[in-house]
Amino acid sequence: MTTKKTFYTPEKMVSDVVLHKLTEIRQGRNISGGHMVSIDTLSHEDIDLILGIADVFHEAKSEKIRVLSGHTIINAFFEDSTRTRSSFELAAKHLGADTLHITSSGSSTKKGESLLDTALTLTALQASAVVVRSGYAGLPQFLSRYLPIPVLNAGDSWHEHPSQALLDVKTMRDHHGKLEGKVVTIIGDIVHSRVTGSLLRILQKLNVRVRICCPETLLPKSISQFGVQHFARVEDAVENTDVVYAMRVKAEYGAKGFLPSLREYARDYCVTPKRFVLAHKNAILMDAGPVIRGLSVSDALMTHDRCRVLEQVENGLAVRKALLWLMVDRKGEVQNS
Ligand code: CP
Repeated sequence: MTTKKTFYTPEKMVSDVVLHKLTEIRQGRNISGGHMVSIDTLSHEDIDLILGIADVFHEAKSEKIRVLSGHTIINAFFEDSTRTRSSFELAAKHLGADTLHITSSGSSTKKGESLLDTALTLTALQASAVVVRSGYAGLPQFLSRYLPIPVLNAGDSWHEHPSQALLDVKTMRDHHGKLEGKVVTIIGDIVHSRVTGSLLRILQKLNVRVRICCPETLLPKSISQFGVQHFARVEDAVENTDVVYAMRVKAEYGAKGFLPSLREYARDYCVTPKRFVLAHKNAILMDAGPVIRGLSVSDALMTHDRCRVLEQVENGLAVRKALLWLMVDRKGEVQNS
């Protein structure tokens, strides 16, 4: 006998329109693989499915859609975070899941327990998925080989930040529509940036032309595999571009040691109104945050009508709801009563 799932909020029944749209888009489909640790594993269809579902969740705003009722999501954040941590947590709660938060301070990793043993311990608490942020590149991939539940990468060191790349593509599509052939210019600390690591991968899949602008010292050796153009001057890099993406200088990874001084860096690489105006007249300004005003983006641009920094945060919530639903509920059935 099949049991019928029902999704009530204390206040009201979730609108049939939202559930109908989710059913129509999902059609019982899943994305490739049982984990979400890298953009590399996603196909075009996967990206469209995630972003299609995210669009519905975005329209539904904070409406509770309890498709993950009875599930527990673990947020294991071994590095600081505001946006990613809070949006994953809120996403799980909006979907009716219980959440459990763990950081390195206050956990038994401090007493010498390995990260794998910590993760296995948490899994034994009947969790349905674990979201991991770590200062160790490759930790989410490593855990995904040993844990019996889905692992979602919430940013691993200099390596990747796949949910950020997905929310960034949603933000670009919301403004520009189809992205094929568009030009995205990424300015800043490329070598230490996991956001860039995932963004380059996803933009390459979507046939977006990418320009990189940074000092040679912040340019990774592996950049050639992504077929990007490198520019030394911001004025040249942003000319007629469709997206200007400022990438924060990652002081916590020692980026200052790669620069003559932060003042010199800001003079040459900060996105200012004078530089932004050289981009296409419909260009948007993006920054994954935290935004370091006056270093990566000038204060004046943060209130520009084409600055999309807060939309990125808003889209993060919708994209992470889509990812949690897809990863945890492999049947993807939604029904109202
Ligand atoms: N963009 C991003 O990853 O921000 P947090 O470090 O605040 O999560």
